[in-house]
Amino acid sequence: MPTFFEKLCYMVRRCIFYVLSIGPMPNHIAFIMDGNRRYANKRSLERGTGHRAGFSALISILRYCYEMGVKYVTIYAFSIDNFRRKPEEVQSTMDLMKEKIDELLKEQSFVNEYEVRLNFWGNHNLLNDPLRLSVEKAMRSTCHNTGPVLSVCVAYTSTDEIAHAIEMSCHEKRDLMKELHACGCKNDFFEEFDMQSVISVADFERHLYTSGCPDPDIVIRTSGETRLSNFLLLQSSFSHLQNPTPLWPDFSFSHLVWAILKYQRGHPYLQERSRRSKKME
Ligand code: IPE
Ligand code: IPE
Ligand code: MG
Repeated sequence: MPTFFEKLCYMVRRCIFYVLSIGPMPNHIAFIMDGNRRYANKRSLERGTGHRAGFSALISILRYCYEMGVKYVTIYAFSIDNFRRKPEEVQSTMDLMKEKIDELLKEQSFVNEYEVRLNFWGNHNLLNDPLRLSVEKAMRSTCHNTGPVLSVCVAYTSTDEIAHAIEMSCHEKRDLMKELHACGCKNDFFEEFDMQSVISVADFERHLYTSGCPDPDIVIRTSGETRLSNFLLLQSSFSHLQNPTPLWPDFSFSHLVWAILKYQRGHPYLQERSRRSKKME
């Protein structure tokens, strides 16, 4: 049962979201949740404590996003480059992720409350068995949910995603060519055959992990860092990039509201720019 104070906070948030919604609202926000270890270092805590605090911050931020009607949230949780960290640190991060995914699948979790559909984008072969199984279970058991979509980039880099999409497009074309050969179409429709063998941008985009998901309107990297660190490089061409100074576990409701206001200020230009680029395609 929510306490009186929680109910009051909820009402205040609703009022703020109502005022915000007079302006354009983002449909998709992506977070690079950076600064967890620095958060722990600053407080002389163990490193893992920073990542745990980061998870709590994530749950609060997701609630706020869903309350304000953001349909898609994408988070950068662990990159392929992060596997180069100390083995103990990689192991403890994997353990923490598995623990938290399992928690999310419990009946009382916010995933059930909001009917969240969970995606995990990345090279799952790089995950250890327990985490890979949890990831697969989470995707399977939420795939029919009709609420907001949470995409977790784990064992992910944009370059790996692009390489994977090219590989899948080539396989697809090869299979199609084989079929055309088998039915003898090559001789009858020579030009058609040649055209079919070209990989188009649309073919390639269909094989990106993000296929079917709109590009992010806002990409927020906490801790003041200004790098994308190989995150959604193709998808963020027209996103509003923001680098607020708080470390991820300190990123709060007021920072999120501020991010939306900044996005609303830049929105007319971004919209026009994205429209012009689509026209040229
Ligand atoms: C980001 O926080 C999360 C992961 C890469 C797992 P960091 O672990 O990079 O924390 P900082 O940036 O070193 O403080
Ligand atoms: C990338 O991790 C961001 C994530 C949250 C996964 P890092 O924090 O290690 O990135 P770099 O190496 O500092 O660019
Ligand atoms: Mg970092």
